[in-house]
Amino acid sequence: MTNRERKLKVGVLGCGPIAQFTHFESCQKARNIELYAICDRAPDLLERMNAIWQPVKVFSDYQKMLDDPEIEAIIVATADAFHVPLSLQAIEAGKHVLVEKPLSHAVSECIQLKEALERNPVHFQVGHMKRFDQGIQYAKEFISDKMGAILALKAWYGDNTHRYTMTDNLQPVPIKSAQALAPHIHPKADLERYYMMAHGSHLVDTARYLAGPIASVSAKLRQKFGAYCWFVDVEFENGTLGHLDLTIKIRGDWHEGFQVYGENGSVFAKTPNPWFYKSSEVECYWEPEQQYFRPLAADGFSYRLQLEHFAEVILKGVPPTGTNLAEGLEITKTMIAIKRSIREKRSIYLDQINEGEL
Ligand SMILES: NC(=O)c1ccc[n+]([C@@H]2O[C@H](COP(=O)([O-])OP(=O)(O)OC[C@H]3O[C@@H](n4cnc5c(N)ncnc54)[C@H](O)[C@@H]3O)[C@@H](O)[C@H]2O)c1
Repeated sequence: MTNRERKLKVGVLGCGPIAQFTHFESCQKARNIELYAICDRAPDLLERMNAIWQPVKVFSDYQKMLDDPEIEAIIVATADAFHVPLSLQAIEAGKHVLVEKPLSHAVSECIQLKEALERNPVHFQVGHMKRFDQGIQYAKEFISDKMGAILALKAWYGDNTHRYTMTDNLQPVPIKSAQALAPHIHPKADLERYYMMAHGSHLVDTARYLAGPIASVSAKLRQKFGAYCWFVDVEFENGTLGHLDLTIKIRGDWHEGFQVYGENGSVFAKTPNPWFYKSSEVECYWEPEQQYFRPLAADGFSYRLQLEHFAEVILKGVPPTGTNLAEGLEITKTMIAIKRSIREKRSIYLDQINEGEL
C-alpha cells in the first residue's frame, strides 16, 4: 500500500469535552486518519466513548497506549497543565504529536520539549486550528504573494456573553466523569490567566501567522463588571505595527477578525465562533486592479483540516504549516510579556523573557 492510500493510525489521549466536541469526529471524518485508539483514566468515560466511536483499541493507561507499536501519532486532548508532560512521554516513545493549545504556560517546559525533539525528531504540531480556516489561509496567501510590505495589522478576539447559548446548540452535550484526571488547580481558578491562555493564545497565533514574529509588546488591561479587556501594541520583527484586542466578555455577539494594511492592498476578515464550522469571511483588496477578492472557503471544519494536514506532513512529507514548537514557545513568551508589560507599565521585548518565567 502506498503512503497516498494509507491512513495514519492515531491514538487520542483524553476523552473529555474537547475530544468529544471535535477530535473524535475529526479523526472519523479525516480522509487520511484512522481513529486507532482512545485513552482515558476514567473507565466510565472510556466505555461510553468506545461504544460511540469504536476505535480498534482502548487504554486506561497512557504508557500502554504509547507502547503499542501500531500507533503512529498521539493527539493530546487534556487540560493545559498536562500538555507538556504528556507530549514529552509521546515524543520519547517516538510518536508524532498534535497537542491542544496553548502549548504551555512556561518557557522552561517548551525548552524541555525542544530537547526531547532533538533526541526524537517526530512531527510536533500545536492545535491552533485557526491556521486551517480556509479564509485565513487565503488571507495569508494574499499577504505573502500579492500584498507587498505590511504596514500594520489589527486583530481582535472577543468572546461574548451569549457564547454558551450559541455553542450549546452546536456541540453535543459532553459526557462527564467524576473519575476524570484533573489538574490540582482548576484551570478557571485564575480567570485572567485562563482567558489569556485559552483565547489570547489563538489571537497571538493568528497575528504571528499573518504578520510574522513579534519583537515586543506594550499592554494594558482593564477589568470592569466581570469583563476583561487587553489592548496590546505590538511591534513585529519586520517593522509592522500591530494592535491586538482581547476582550472577554463582550456584551454582544462573538467578535473576532483582523485588518491588514499593505503596500499593494489590504485584507479585512471576520471570523465566526469556531463551533459554527464556518470559515472566516475575508475580503482582499488588490490595488493594481482596484478589485476585491472574496473566497468561498466552503470547508469550514478547521479542526478536521488541521488533522488532515498533520497526517499529510507525516505520511507524505508535505511542508508543515501548523504551529510548531518554536512558534508555540514564542506564543508562550508573548503572553508572559503581555502580563509583564501590564505589571511593569512598559514595553517588553520577547528576548527579555527568561527561561524560568510563567
Ligand atoms: N482548539 C480549541 O478551539 C479548543 C477549544 C476548547 C478547549 N481546548 C483545549 O482543550 C483542553 C481541555 O480539554 P478538555 O476540556 O477536554 O479537558 P478535561 O480536563 O476536561 O478532559 C481531559 C480528559 O483527559 C483525561 N486525562 C488527563 N490526563 C490523562 C492521563 N495521563 N491518562 C489518561 N487520561 C488522562 C482526563 O481523565 C479527562 O477525562 C485545554 O487545553 C483547552 O485549551 C481547545
